[in-house]
Amino acid sequence: MITENLLTTHIGAEIEGIDLRSSDLATHADFLIDALARHQVVFFRDQHLNLEQQKSLTRVFGPLSKLSYVEPLDGEPYVIRVLKEADEVGGTFGGDWHTDFSFVEHPPAGSVLSAVEIPPVGGDTLWTSQATAWDALPDDLKDLLLGRDAIHVGKPYGAKWSPPEETRSGYSIKMVRGDPAADQEQKHPAVLRNPITGRHMLFLNPTYVSRLDGMSEEESTPILNRIQAHATRPEFCCRFRWSAGTVAIWDNMATQHFAVNDYSGHRRLMYRTTFSGPVPTHMAAT
Ligand code: SIN
Repeated sequence: MITENLLTTHIGAEIEGIDLRSSDLATHADFLIDALARHQVVFFRDQHLNLEQQKSLTRVFGPLSKLSYVEPLDGEPYVIRVLKEADEVGGTFGGDWHTDFSFVEHPPAGSVLSAVEIPPVGGDTLWTSQATAWDALPDDLKDLLLGRDAIHVGKPYGAKWSPPEETRSGYSIKMVRGDPAADQEQKHPAVLRNPITGRHMLFLNPTYVSRLDGMSEEESTPILNRIQAHATRPEFCCRFRWSAGTVAIWDNMATQHFAVNDYSGHRRLMYRTTFSGPVPTHMAAT
């Protein structure tokens, strides 16, 4: 029997009763796709996937997508090793609110993260529901955002917004830095609609969004800061305590996430794959 145990009313569910290593995973495809749309992030404990199994699982949701700017695992162009060694100082990969690679023309529709080695303390990940945040957004901000694009740039990888050395992630993940191509502006709708649930969702994040279309950075910044403070209110978030073998799958169009960097002195190892979906487009308001 498959059971869905909610982490919060708004976002996140632990799912039991599915073996993600199974060769007939396709029989669960409709359920998995629907569960992801409803919960925005889903978790499966005790799976211990190998990379082939992780890629097969990822393909249930869409074609595997390759990401520029982060070096993939040797011989595995679709897999990123999310590793922080015990002696690494500074930031951690994904250690601020973000939506994976929203600055590219065709951002990943979702990501699959498989936990291999988990620190004895810390190393949780937070996700926030951008559908719940939209529902509760004040009307003046809804009016401002509907039908508007936001401008995304690859701030951590570009030259213009390059982060200070001390906040960068450590040596285990090779990231391209200072590439002016990453500063190229990409427009995406500030509000999307989930094709399965019909819910509107904010599609903004502070890591990659530089401004709202039709406004300068100076005009946009206070508005984006206000929206981000709202979008990450604790009651819109879930926080997940990992265990080795656990798999998380999130809807990259419906969430922002944040890897908490609170486990210095300990090793943390995960493998991440991403899948693609439709290019984000404006939806008619209802
Ligand atoms: C990420 O942003 O994909 C990393 C999340 C994590 O390491 O928890």
